[in-house]
Amino acid sequence: MKILMVCLGNICRSPLAEGILQHKANANSLNIQVDSAGTGNYHIGEPPHVLSQKVAKENGVNITQQKCRQFKKTDFEIFDKIYVMDSDNYNDVKRIAGSYFNENKIDLLLNELYLNENREVPDPWFGGIEDFKKVYAMLDAACEVVINKFLAALQQQQ
Ligand code: 4NP
Repeated sequence: MKILMVCLGNICRSPLAEGILQHKANANSLNIQVDSAGTGNYHIGEPPHVLSQKVAKENGVNITQQKCRQFKKTDFEIFDKIYVMDSDNYNDVKRIAGSYFNENKIDLLLNELYLNENREVPDPWFGGIEDFKKVYAMLDAACEVVINKFLAALQQQQ
């Protein structure tokens, strides 16, 4: 199972989402590969925001090795599921993907936690450490649901 986390910059939110979900998948020995990308091209090649790195580290998640990349249309061929952080991300992904867009593969990440409510993970880019901590808590709760669903699906197969 390949999962892609997408935000605008691939600097603040989606690197955290990638790190958190991969950490939980590894802790449960699940065959899930997580990646992340940004719809924008402002930060290509850069590591995650220092405050994302800090809040991740405080929670035992290491995201220091990640490098920003831009979302590309062929990600719809590579990934089984694409989670976006907000509705702008959704619309940008749809625009970039063009004919590759697949509505069945994409959702707002927080819809895992709050079904069909279309809640958004706020952009902490102009915020401080408290904003990054709030974002971390939201991502952690949503990723926990993703993992629990995956575990439940595995159990059903047995
Ligand atoms: P992210 O936050 O989408 O959570 O990575 C942002 C990072 C950078 C910018 C915008 C949002 N920017 O405009 O450079």
